[in-house]
Amino acid sequence: MAQKVILDVDTGGDDAVAILLAGHHPALELVAVTVTHGNAPLSVTLDNTLRVIAAGQLGHVPVYSGALTALVNPPPPMNSDQRAILPLPATDLQPQTERAVDFLIRYYMGPLGPDTVYAPIGPLTNLALALRIEPRLATRIPRLVTMGGAYLEGNTTPSAEFNILADPEAAHIVYSAGIPITMIGLEVTAQAYVSLDNVAKIGQIGSPWAIVAASLMERDVRWFINHRHVERGQIYDACAIATVIDPALTRTKPMHVGIELRGELTRGRTVADISGHHALPVNVDVGVAIDRMRFLEIIRAGLS
Ligand code: RIB
Ligand code: CA
Repeated sequence: MAQKVILDVDTGGDDAVAILLAGHHPALELVAVTVTHGNAPLSVTLDNTLRVIAAGQLGHVPVYSGALTALVNPPPPMNSDQRAILPLPATDLQPQTERAVDFLIRYYMGPLGPDTVYAPIGPLTNLALALRIEPRLATRIPRLVTMGGAYLEGNTTPSAEFNILADPEAAHIVYSAGIPITMIGLEVTAQAYVSLDNVAKIGQIGSPWAIVAASLMERDVRWFINHRHVERGQIYDACAIATVIDPALTRTKPMHVGIELRGELTRGRTVADISGHHALPVNVDVGVAIDRMRFLEIIRAGLS
């Protein structure tokens, strides 16, 4: 039976690929998509999400609009590339009238909640708000598989990954709630690198959604080539969805992870007890390695 999953997105290009993969891979049933601020203001991430849903022929999947901004501080500045509307046709599709937070509470407190993985691949504001309203959600969500954080590096500051830095207080609420968490951080996404050649092969699959995914992946990979001066890119969020599809894809290590809220240089850091020597309670299965060839195979299979 397909694994039910709800995605929480701040749709830029990599979220889009994640949505297409979750919506089309036979091992998953994409129940709904909730949207948050992040890569761009909510108005843009919501519009991008609806465009992806339409272009990917996933109009049966309901989309719920969520948090406009972070819980406490304004998120870090977004660069102009990230702010852009995705180059996909405009759509008449509309979000549901129910808000994302109300939907999450209604859904997870209902009968299907414990069967449904939640996969947040943007800032964690929506789930944090829901947990503050309904703390019992922590016992209803069977697992969170989230793209965010890192145990060593940062991509927005030397210490912090974007999704966590965009709302550290929300991340603190979520990471300390007691929900089983699989954290797909930057050390994992960097291993699952994607080349232009890999992207071309995905485009050759020829399905409408593979063609859309390949065009967005090419855009992301070219961003890495032009801005990071490397020959390959990262499709960050797809790594989390591929891990929901095949949990054995990613090797994890149980660790205590706290969220740094105050540090002048370190705000937004996922502080991981890597050695395990500090007698702190384990709260996260931290991704440490991913099988890159299998990852590419999962993307190809999902978009076929
Ligand atoms: O740091 C990478 C993450 O930030 C990805 O989820 C990307 O979509 C952005 O939200
Ligand atoms: Ca994202």
